[in-house]
Amino acid sequence: MIRFITTAETLAIRSEILRNGELLPEQCRFEGDDEPGAFHLGYFQSGLLVSIASFHNQPHPDYGPDGFQLRGMATLTEFQGKGIGKQIIQFAMIYLQQQGAAYVWCNARKVAYNFYLALQFSFISGEFEIKGIGLHRKMLRKIDKQNPTI
Ligand SMILES: CC(C)(COP(=O)(O)OP(=O)(O)OC[C@H]1O[C@@H](n2cnc3c(N)ncnc32)[C@H](O)[C@@H]1OP(=O)(O)O)[C@@H](O)C(=O)NCCC(=O)NCCS
Repeated sequence: MIRFITTAETLAIRSEILRNGELLPEQCRFEGDDEPGAFHLGYFQSGLLVSIASFHNQPHPDYGPDGFQLRGMATLTEFQGKGIGKQIIQFAMIYLQQQGAAYVWCNARKVAYNFYLALQFSFISGEFEIKGIGLHRKMLRKIDKQNPTI
């Protein structure tokens, strides 16, 4: 089951999966997490939060004002590859379309390029380094007004 969650609920998985436990959960807050329009989604299995994604009302400078930035996408290791992340993105696309969003973009880690490509994201930048994390490319998925799902 997918539901909206708070920033605080995202922190343990961000710490474990996105920062390998090297940052404490409280250190895994992102600027903008609690700004108006930002929201966080969680997938629960048997009551356990196993996958998360956050969306900030933060357009990309080159693609118009109606964009959201996807941040902190992560699935607990033992639940990866089961289609859970894909379900979160599909849920988000419908909600974002209802909010009037035209696209979603993200800074994708190299290990996640194929995940995003499978979900109809395209590359919009070359590779660049984010210090302490590694190589990334910017990726973007347009949101079709008639058919936001994949
Ligand atoms: C990337 C991540 C969020 C994907 O979540 P997930 O729940 O495992 O993804 P899903 O099982 O829903 O995969 C959805 C699709 O992407 C594909 N996919 C997922 N990870 C992939 C990978 N590493 N390589 C190739 N394809 C991948 C799946 O095969 C699936 O495609 P399909 O529907 O055609 O079969 C998860 O692996 C993760 O948390 N990784 C570590 C943290 C990370 O890198 N986060 C991204 C930060 S930008």
